[in-house]
Amino acid sequence: MKFVVDQQVEDIEMPENLKLNTFLQEFHSDCPHPECNFGFYGFAFGQSPFPVPKIVQDALIKNVDKGAYAPISGIPELRNAISKYNKYYFGMDVSPERIHVGPGTKELIFNLLEILHGTVILPTPAWLGYLPQIRFLKKNYHMLPTRSNKKISPNNLRRLALRLHDRQKILILNNPNNPTGLLYDKLELEEISDVCREQNITVISDEIYAQTTYDFSKFVSMGKIYPEGTFVTNGLSKSHAAGGYRLGYVIFPQHAIELKTQFKKILATEYTAVSTPIQHAAVAGFEISKDMNKYFETTRNIHQIMGEYTYNALSAIEGVVATKPDATFYLLADFNHYATDLQNSEIFTSQKLSESLIVHPYHTAIVGGDSLVLERTDFSARIAYVDYDGSQVYQNYLKNKPKLSSEKVEFVKNNAPKVVAGINMITNFFENIKKSSFKNPRTKSSMTTSS
Ligand SMILES: Cc1ncc(COP(=O)(O)O)c(C=O)c1O
Repeated sequence: MKFVVDQQVEDIEMPENLKLNTFLQEFHSDCPHPECNFGFYGFAFGQSPFPVPKIVQDALIKNVDKGAYAPISGIPELRNAISKYNKYYFGMDVSPERIHVGPGTKELIFNLLEILHGTVILPTPAWLGYLPQIRFLKKNYHMLPTRSNKKISPNNLRRLALRLHDRQKILILNNPNNPTGLLYDKLELEEISDVCREQNITVISDEIYAQTTYDFSKFVSMGKIYPEGTFVTNGLSKSHAAGGYRLGYVIFPQHAIELKTQFKKILATEYTAVSTPIQHAAVAGFEISKDMNKYFETTRNIHQIMGEYTYNALSAIEGVVATKPDATFYLLADFNHYATDLQNSEIFTSQKLSESLIVHPYHTAIVGGDSLVLERTDFSARIAYVDYDGSQVYQNYLKNKPKLSSEKVEFVKNNAPKVVAGINMITNFFENIKKSSFKNPRTKSSMTTSS
């Protein structure tokens, strides 16, 4: 039997996260060295290492008997809890009617792109999830490269919007940002929103990392600054370490009543409703409680400690420039200082750089620049600092909270040895690349990997 795949699917590229998985698996099965058995230093996967909060797990167990379909936009208890969560943590007044629950924010962003007419503006670097969706939906889109500080320039946004003749433009704002770990402050958001009002730009504000903001008082939602034009998405995946639960929500802009009906049509057509037991579990995760407060505070403090270590260690490599994360568990490291040396070793693209780092003797997985919607020849990479045992580290942190900088460094060394070793591997790699380039400046020889 020969199956014919629809042309629309044939035409889309494999999303980067799938490509990465396949690549790592292949590397693993091909590697003949005994050292490969341990796996690799994992800076590639964007997953919180912590356990799902106990009260969420308990609520899931308690609700396993809920076999009935849920209402399309979510059970009322959950929409109420999300409304209060937004008031308590983000200072937003959002009535439950403006909230729709879906199977993850990725799906909800896809649904929003399905219903909203218009050209998409995608600031780069960007999370690897957006572009395949935009392409799949055959939407017009334009990249908006960020400034050297890796943030959107309002003037560049205006300039681009003036060139677009669509009635509506859709800006995808990701704050805090994956891959840079950076946070937009209130003033920066106000400047962007001024341009959005002026140019009739609708914003999809992906705030999935909001709760990880290290100095939490600094987080401001775009939904607060530009309530009439912003769709805010958030969910359980990062803040509650529950990506596998597949639950997210979107807050509709104020006064978007008509749009809600259209959106519900899409949800009902595509997935009916999110699993009912998962929705009940999510109620416990979004309700305000001492347990959840402690969980958010502890996990964000640990992310910050790991982030500071990673930032300092990578910045200590000659010529490497990294973003200093304000939130998330990522940073963007710029290795372009080594461009010539890399080229002398026949490494011409960021994809090749990722491949060269994953093979023996480095065993280090990173996400290269082209997966982040950068030029293929841009040697920047996303570094996710989550390769440690989250349950154990959570307990260790609570037993003895490091306060001084030196204690924090010790904490990382004791609790995240693979993060430390992986950064050492990256350091070795670039030292070797430089040495090899020095020996063979023009010969474009293959890299020697003596370490
Ligand atoms: C920026 C960003 N948005 C959305 C998602 C997907 O979130 P969800 O699990 O809610 O679909 C991710 C996950 O990696 C992400 O990094």
